[in-house]
Amino acid sequence: MRELIEQLASKRQLEKKDYIRLLEQLNEEDEQYLRELAKQKAIEYYGKDVYVRGLIEYTNFCKNDCYYCGIRKSNSNAMRYRLTKEEILACCKEGYELGFRTFVLQGGEDGFFTDDKIEDIIWAIKKEYSDCALTLSIGERSYEAYKRFYDAGADRYLLRHETADELHYEKLHPSNLSLRTRKECLYQLKEIGYQVGCGFMVGSPFQTIENLAKDLVFIKELSPHMVGIGPFISHKDTPFKDYENGLVSLTLNLIAIIRLMLPNILIPATTALGTLDKMGREKGILAGANVLMPNLSPVSVRKKYMLYDNKICTGDEAAQCRQCLNQRIERIGYHIVTERGDCKAL
Ligand code: 5AD
Ligand code: FES
Repeated sequence: MRELIEQLASKRQLEKKDYIRLLEQLNEEDEQYLRELAKQKAIEYYGKDVYVRGLIEYTNFCKNDCYYCGIRKSNSNAMRYRLTKEEILACCKEGYELGFRTFVLQGGEDGFFTDDKIEDIIWAIKKEYSDCALTLSIGERSYEAYKRFYDAGADRYLLRHETADELHYEKLHPSNLSLRTRKECLYQLKEIGYQVGCGFMVGSPFQTIENLAKDLVFIKELSPHMVGIGPFISHKDTPFKDYENGLVSLTLNLIAIIRLMLPNILIPATTALGTLDKMGREKGILAGANVLMPNLSPVSVRKKYMLYDNKICTGDEAAQCRQCLNQRIERIGYHIVTERGDCKAL
């Protein structure tokens, strides 16, 4: 396995069959080696700097019905909310004071927020915080909408592909959603000029090792600026309530593999990782991740943005999380920096 890991590190890719071999046959020693190489690779590009993004979960209304997601349309137990433009700007203000220089607007696919409304919010944020990057994570929209948002000042776009296997995609989503459309959106976003992030859940129901290998092949092909992965965590009010959670160890191995494939990109140690393991985010950074995305949403709505059960930090103020993260990151010898945190050149 060592040779295969070294091959991955030097060639920055493997064939699909070799990803399968790697994922199937890693023993504990190989795992440590893989993660250590990935950690060194991240340090080569980013030192021990960790970038932070202030996540603003501005709406939990969603027209989609993804089987895994706690804010799916059919979940009548979800208490729905929307933040106003003023509330969103207040989150940015607090975030700016706490040292955030990237804001991520994330929400369900909510028809209330028309392209006009989103454009207006982007203008307002970028006018006030011109030294900050703005990331959108608001799902599938038209090419024209993506273009307008970009022209209004949005810099980055997160849209997880969820799985790069058509059949698996169909097992996770109702039939009105398709992998083809998802991929089209990602390529459009890239063409427009966004820094683009894709990603997937580790251990989602029906996922096979082959599916994961396909994810890796797709990621290399898309060559995004960011890749967000976290373990699947079941939500009690979804069709997947009885499925097992994803594995932290597999998530860490995949973070490491992705770091070796795309050494200069941005990889978050996700909240889902921190939810399944108290030290999950730290372990993520030590396996090659270099970004954290704490929540800036008002505490009053946090418990309502429950994509999965037991999500952490839903009772904490932004300032508390900021301080907590600082301590956690210092403890492993890394530092949170006050910067936009763009992707470094290869
Ligand atoms: N467990 C883990 N991650 C989830 N997401 C949605 N539901 C879950 C869940 N139950 C992830 C999806 C989505 C991102 C915003 O959150 O990958 O793209
Ligand atoms: Fe939120 Fe630790 S990061 S309380």
